Formats: sequence, structure tokens, C-alpha cells
Amino acid sequence: MVNSSLPSDGILRLDAAGTTLLIGIGGVVPSLLYWGRALPLTASLDGVERAAQRPVYHNSVDEDVPLTLLPQQGLGFFGQPALEGSRDGLDSITDIELVEFQQSDGRLLFKLADEIALLSVDIELILDAQTGVLSQRTTVRNDGKAPYDIAWCAAGAWALPWRAREVLSLEGRWSREFQERRVSLSLGRYVRENRKGRTSHDTFPGIILGTKGFGETGGEVWGCHLGWSGNHHMVAETLSDGGCQVQLGEQLSPGEVRLSPDETYTTPWVYGAYSDAGLNGLTDRFHTYVRDRLVDWPGGAMKPRPVIVNTWEAVYFSHDLDRLAALADKAAAVGAERFVLDDGWFGGELSGRDDDTTSLGDWQIDHRKWPNGLHPLIDHVRDLGMEFGLWVEPEMISPHSDLYQAHPDWALHVPDRRRPTGRNQLVLDLTLPAAFDHVWQALDNLLKSHDIAYLKWDMNRDLAPIASAGVPVQSAQTSAVYALIDRLRAAHPSVEIESCASGGSRADYGALARAHRIWTSDCNDAHERQRIQRGAARFLPLCVLGCHIGPDPAHTTGGRDRLDFRAVTALFGHMGLELNLLELDDDELEEIAHVIAVHKQHRSLLHAGQYVRLEDDLEPGRMGHGVVAQDRGEALYALAQLDSPPMTISPPVRLVGLSSDRSYRVRFALPIPMGAQANTPALKAMANPDGIVLSGAVLTNVGLQLPTLWPRSAVLLHLQAVD
Ligand code: GLA
Repeated sequence: MVNSSLPSDGILRLDAAGTTLLIGIGGVVPSLLYWGRALPLTASLDGVERAAQRPVYHNSVDEDVPLTLLPQQGLGFFGQPALEGSRDGLDSITDIELVEFQQSDGRLLFKLADEIALLSVDIELILDAQTGVLSQRTTVRNDGKAPYDIAWCAAGAWALPWRAREVLSLEGRWSREFQERRVSLSLGRYVRENRKGRTSHDTFPGIILGTKGFGETGGEVWGCHLGWSGNHHMVAETLSDGGCQVQLGEQLSPGEVRLSPDETYTTPWVYGAYSDAGLNGLTDRFHTYVRDRLVDWPGGAMKPRPVIVNTWEAVYFSHDLDRLAALADKAAAVGAERFVLDDGWFGGELSGRDDDTTSLGDWQIDHRKWPNGLHPLIDHVRDLGMEFGLWVEPEMISPHSDLYQAHPDWALHVPDRRRPTGRNQLVLDLTLPAAFDHVWQALDNLLKSHDIAYLKWDMNRDLAPIASAGVPVQSAQTSAVYALIDRLRAAHPSVEIESCASGGSRADYGALARAHRIWTSDCNDAHERQRIQRGAARFLPLCVLGCHIGPDPAHTTGGRDRLDFRAVTALFGHMGLELNLLELDDDELEEIAHVIAVHKQHRSLLHAGQYVRLEDDLEPGRMGHGVVAQDRGEALYALAQLDSPPMTISPPVRLVGLSSDRSYRVRFALPIPMGAQANTPALKAMANPDGIVLSGAVLTNVGLQLPTLWPRSAVLLHLQAVD
């Protein structure tokens, strides 16, 4: 980047993919004047900043203090500051001013400083040329001689227009992640935060704000996401002076960030996107960004996502070569391409992993279960033409383990205080170089000595206490996890990694900068999964969302679903199986083989096309989504009936994303489910390969009458352009 001079109109602009940002630098601190649909490149911006200037109101300080990229406390701004800190009780009131800026190729760097509080701040902004996704991070430096304590530093503080009054956020719990919640903003703050030390099931670190009534295909929306796998804090604030802002950053513990002289603190990246075409437009930007820009695919590009068989719900901890080899035979026979051996293969001198009470940290093969090691199974899996994957949980230490006996201080702890276990385990203190090295060696040896293509990297408890011998380390522990994965990936670049944390408790762009898949949820109940996956797909593309056909009944809910519904549900993601194939009859195996074949047939469309949700005018209990090829030549839609339909005949469904100028052959891509009333000539024809032909204009605007469905069933539609 080069030192830049101020443009004549005093405004810096970033433009990409239908989005424009205008940043005014006429004030003390740069301010985001506009973030929205693209403005013509030729438009004159003269006077924009002046026109935006706000009057001084009654009973206020006599100089207006508007929102900026770094709102600060103490000199007339009364909202949430972007930076909160102090030095020996002083320097909490700041006046950090722009010193210089640099601009090049969609990037802006603002350098700011305060000569009294002795702080420097760098704000880096990037607008991605391909997707229009904005990313920002902020760095604070202590220029003083005494330590500076930071309590809060927003990765991004973005002013939004007043019309962004409604919020969509994602919340949940174990086995029920990514539930959508909508609220309207009022004066004051809407806060979501996480203190669990991992991204959490409870609160996804993302927030969408939009104009009143925004929906899947309409309204203006701004989506923000913190790419961080530790604690987070998000606030959407409406000030009494009419200002509106959103801030996202790390939730820091008291005393956690104390900057020594010249030391810096850099926030995680925060990501944002704008759409004037509702949520589908926002999703498209985020999905493309993650798939094409963020995920570091081995070999540089995403290969077809291999269909997975995971052993967890099939055998749990009961590992036995003959049984698992037989499972692998069935897996290969139905078309699986990657076989993942889950928890239970390891142990130490003290004990082997027969349940979840022991052995984490002792990463030796358990020779009671595997007398000849893992090689016989791996060779068998490889001979069947599948990749082999292995489960690990590197960040943990079981109290009942050789490692803990030798190094009790390697667990996160506060001296002389209780050490609460979670799932019977403690957390390994990765900020200790020796502990880090121990687990690095174990993983490196494992990968060096076995033909392993994939690690399911699990993390099964919340962090409590998040302290290294009493010192708060939320930030440092998360950075150490990242460093461990980064080092492993550098040493074994062809190995793919799944980010799992008791299901979807570590699903964020910080993890996805290192991993290739998210285990979306421990819940494999298809009825629940429909909502879980719908929420997850707000920010995460289908190619990284692990979606498995689970057993009947589902192990986490007892819910019962027919195989066809479980299959249509799992098909919209990185598909896999997580049930005991050895217990299925031939008809079921055949049905699974067929569904996998259908998934493979449409896999490139599913994983590279544009994901769309059908408009919210579907009646209650019904949910629909699809993927449309980038050239609009093909599409696949699933319409799921979750609850009993409120009417005898479900209304026609308007499909989304098609070209109005083209005609499409429409057919059912899987047999219509039991109970579906499909007795019209058109629906009967759609069950045949020739289907029916309708124009995109009709399908999009008039809609298509589909059969009324039983609850817990779905239809899968394939559309092929015929022109
Ligand atoms: C977590 C994961 C599961 C499974 C178990 C193994 O719960 O989310 O998929 O791997 O751990 O212990």
C-alpha cells in the first residue's frame, strides 16, 4: 500500500460486486458514510460529508460527535465506544485521531494515534472484489511506558442506516444449534455474547440487520460475522441522537489483555456483507466468499466433497476390526468415499478409551482393541477405494490419563481452586509450550505413520476456568489452537480437517480459515436438522456443512423419520451416513445407495451453485430451499413438510432463482414420499423422467402446485433448462 493523498471530494470509496462503501475522512476519525448498493462510478461525491453533517441539538454538548469507525468515550460520544481501556486508572478518555491512510486495490489502512493517551490504532478494511464481502480488523498499540489494559476492542464498529431496524440472529443449545431469532431494535442495545471459550452452541457470532420485514428475496440487509472461535460480544445499538451502529469483537476477561510498552493487540477479523435482494443475496455473498476465498483447500481448489461414513453412532466406543471392516464393506458398497473412525481408538498405560471418562491426551493406539494397530483397518478401507479419516480431540486432557498423572498443571486451572470437569474432561493448556509440543508431536506422528486423509478435530466442552495457572487466557488459548492447526496443516497439507465441537459449537470463519468442514450438529434427527441446517446456511455454504443420514430412531431425540426424509435432508450439505449399516436390510441399503448416487449426480450443483431459500410466504410447517446453477441452467429444490399442513391442499410454491427467460423440465429427483397426494396429471408426469416443462417466469411468479405432504416428509425437484 502507498501513502495516499486525499481525493478532491474528501471521500474514500470502495466498490465491489454491486456494493459501495463511502468513508469520510474530513473529521477527526474516518466515518462510514454509506454502505449499500453500488453507486455509479461517475457519481460526484462532492459535498457528501457536508450534507451528512448533523445539527447540534438541545441539551447536548455543543459540538456534535457522530459515529465513526472508532467511536470513543469521554468527549461527547455517549454510546458504546469501540475501545475501552485504561492505564493506572487514566487514559480511558481518548481522542485518537487519523494520522495517515493508505489505499490500494480494495484495501484501506487507517493509522490513528493519541499523543496524550499514548495509543496508536490501525484499522484495516478490505472489500473483496469477487463477492463484495467486507473484512476488517483493528490493532491497538501501547505507545506509553506503563501497561495499558484493554477491556473491549471492537474488531469493527460500523454505522448502519436507521432503517436497519430488524435483527436476525442465531441461537441454540447442544443438539439444537442455529435456531433463528428475529427481534426489532428499540433505543438502547441489543447484545449477544458468548463466554464459553469456544464459539458455542448458544450464540453464533453473527448478526443480520435489515429493513422492516426483510425476507428471503426482499429488503435491504447487512450481515456481520466475527471470525473467531473463542468468546465474542456483539452489540447493535440505537442512540437517542438517531445514530445506529453494530460492533463485534472478542469478549475479553478482566486483565486478559494488558499491553506492555510497544505491545499490540489485534482483533480477529470481522466480516460483513450487504444485499438489497434480501437474505438470499446476503447468503450468496457469504457462501461464495467462504468457498472461494476463505477455505484453504488442499491443492488450491475444492475437490468433490467425498461422501462420508462416520462410525460414531454405529459402534460408539466398541471398536473391533472385524465389525468395522464389515461396516467399511457396506460403506463402500453404498457408494461412500471416506470412512471416518470416530472416538475410542486410543489410550495409554492407565486406561483405554472405552467410554468418555478416560484417556484424552494419551494418543497411543489402544492395542487391546487394535492388536495390530490401525493399519489393517486403514488398508482395508483404502483397498475398498475410500479415504480414511480419524477422530481426535487434541485440546483435552482426561483426569484419568497418563498425561494428567504426569502433568496435572497442564490442564487449564486456577491454583487452589476446583477444576470443574465437562464430559469428564479438563482442557489442555495449549498456551504452555510443553503441552502444545506434546500434542503436536502426537498428531504429527499419527499423520506421519498412517495413511490418514482427514481428521475430525473435536472439542467437547466449554472452557471453565479459562485460565493458565490463574491467568485468563481465552484469547491466547484460541490463538494456540489456531497455531496448532496451522502447524499441522503446514506439515501435512493434503489432510482435510473437520471442525467439530460437540456438533456445531465451533462453526465460524476463524475455524473455516483452517478447516474444510463443520460438523453442523450432533442431532441427526431430520426434522430438527431442517431448521438447524437452514440457520447454519445463513453464513456457511453447503459444501462445508456436514449432514448425515442418521439412524431411526434418532439417538439424540428419539425422533423417528423414514429414510427418504432423512436422505433429502442430508443431501443438502457435505453428505454422509452415521448409522449402523450392518443393521439395515437390503431394501434400505439399496435406497441409501440410490440417494448417494443422486447426491453425487448433483454434487457439483449443490456445492458450487447458488443456494436459495424459498420466500417466507410458504404456509407454516413447510420449508423449502434449493440450489440454482450459476448459469441458471439447472436447479435442485427440496420442499419439506415439518408439521401437519394447516390446509387440506397446500398452496402452490413459487420457486426462486430461476431465469424468467428460460423454460425448465421439472421432475421429481427421488420417488415421491409415502402419503403424498400426487394424483394430478402434472404431478404424475413429474414422477417420470420427461417431467413437465414450464417457463421460469411461471415457476417464479405463478408457482407450482406440489402434493400435500405428510409431516416429516419432503419432495426433491430437479429442473433442467430445455433451451
Ligand atoms: C462429540 C461429537 C460426536 C462424536 C463424539 C465422540 O460429541 O460431536 O460426533 O465424535 O464427540 O466422543
